[in-house]
Amino acid sequence: MEQTLRVRLLETEELALVQALWRAAGLPFHPEGRDSLEAMAAEAREGRTFYAGAFDEDRMVGVVLGTDEGRKGWINRLAVLPEARRHGVAAALVAFCEAEFARRGRGLVCALVEDWNDPSLGLFQREGYALRKDILYLRKSLKGEEW
Ligand SMILES: CC(C)(COP(=O)(O)OP(=O)(O)OC[C@H]1O[C@@H](n2cnc3c(N)ncnc32)[C@H](O)[C@@H]1OP(=O)(O)O)[C@@H](O)C(=O)NCCC(=O)NCCS
Repeated sequence: MEQTLRVRLLETEELALVQALWRAAGLPFHPEGRDSLEAMAAEAREGRTFYAGAFDEDRMVGVVLGTDEGRKGWINRLAVLPEARRHGVAAALVAFCEAEFARRGRGLVCALVEDWNDPSLGLFQREGYALRKDILYLRKSLKGEEW
């Protein structure tokens, strides 16, 4: 697969495929909230968010959402189809995000990973991300808990 793998930005019309891939990968997301097709398209139009897909031939096998917050780049919602795992797909998507953030002038790239998610923790550390255990995540929804 490595030879044929290609990562590219996705078009708005392809966002439904992103949701389908998240489902197939078992990635929790918010289809009624910030991951609704409308919210995803609006976010992408706004310019700081990009969606990228990894393709094996014509088949999309992995996706990622990159967010340029202006100071840092964030890697979100990274997911690879179960049958395509351990072939470097996620690593290629992370590399794509890093190149995109570098192009936009960002010097730092980050990700939030749940503490039980060993595959994701293994991936990011292998790609050179330092694990900070001294930071706790606080958040507040202004649009309701499910958003
Ligand atoms: C995490 C995930 C995206 C990794 O995708 P992947 O394409 O299999 O990852 P890669 O093949 O690029 O892995 C690169 C490296 O990451 C590490 N890694 C990946 N999966 C791992 C696992 N299950 N256990 C331990 N380390 C793992 C390894 O170091 C691996 O290199 P190796 O295969 O040479 O040992 C995938 O398991 C997934 O989609 N999980 C469900 C959704 C999810 O949890 N997403 C992350 C949200 S933060």
